[in-house]
Amino acid sequence: MRKPFIAGNWKMNLTHIEATAFIQDFHYDFKNKNNCEICICPPFIALRGIKNIIDADKINVKIGAQNMHWEKSGAFTGEISPEMLKALKIDYVIIGHSERRQYFAETNETVNKKVRAAFANDLLPIMCVGEDLKTREAGNAEDFVLGQITECLEGLEEKLAADLTVAYEPIWAIGTGRTATSEDANTMCSAIRKKIAGLYSFATAESVRIQYGGSVKPSNITELMSMPDIDGALVGGASINVGDFLAIINY
Ligand code: 13P
Repeated sequence: MRKPFIAGNWKMNLTHIEATAFIQDFHYDFKNKNNCEICICPPFIALRGIKNIIDADKINVKIGAQNMHWEKSGAFTGEISPEMLKALKIDYVIIGHSERRQYFAETNETVNKKVRAAFANDLLPIMCVGEDLKTREAGNAEDFVLGQITECLEGLEEKLAADLTVAYEPIWAIGTGRTATSEDANTMCSAIRKKIAGLYSFATAESVRIQYGGSVKPSNITELMSMPDIDGALVGGASINVGDFLAIINY
C-alpha cells in the first residue's frame, strides 16, 4: 500500500521569520488523522530554521527543497548543490516544477540530471510533469506528459525509481483556481503509472507515488484523494495558510 503523501510547495513566499511563525502555528494545531506523509518545501533560506524546529520539537513532518543544481560544487553562482542539501539532512527535493521549466529554462534533460543527482545524495525527488492548456486542448496531453516521464527517467536504475514521487501538475490548473476534474487527474496519473510499469516493472510502478497538483484546496482534496491512482497532492497557494494546509492534510 502506498502511503498518502501531501507536500506543500511554498514557492517564493514567506521570509525566514514568517516561516518560523508558520511552523510554530502549524505544530500547535497539528493533527494527522489519515496518517499521511507530510512534507514542507520552503525557500532555501528557511530550510535550516524549519528543520531545527521540526527536529527539536519532534514534529512528524518531512522537509524538502524546491530545486537544486545537479553538480556537487563549483562555479555556479546562485545555485545550491545536492551535497549542501544532504548536509542539511533534507528529505525531499522538488525537481522540474513547471515554473522552473517556464522561467528558468529547465528541460527534461536537466530534470533527468537532477533526479539522478538527488538519488545519488540520499534526497528523494518529487519530479514534476504536466502539460499546458494548448497541449491539452489539442488532445496531446497524455503523449506530452508520458514523453516527459520517459525523458526525465532516462538511465535511472529501477531500484531507485521505486522511491520516486511524481507530481502531475497541469500548468493550466496552477494558481488559477481551476482544478482538473478528479477523473481527468486520475486518468493521467494512471497513464503515468502504466508508463512507469512499461519502463521498469509493475511492482515498481505500484510503489511510485503520484501526486496531483494545481489549485488543491480543502474543498477538493477529499475527492482527489478518493481516486485510485492519486496518492497525494503537491499544494502551492493553500500550503502557506496554516488552516488550509491542515484541512488538506486531514481531508
Ligand atoms: P497552486 O496549488 O497554487 O495551484 O500551485 C500548485 C503547484 O504548483 C504546486 O507545486
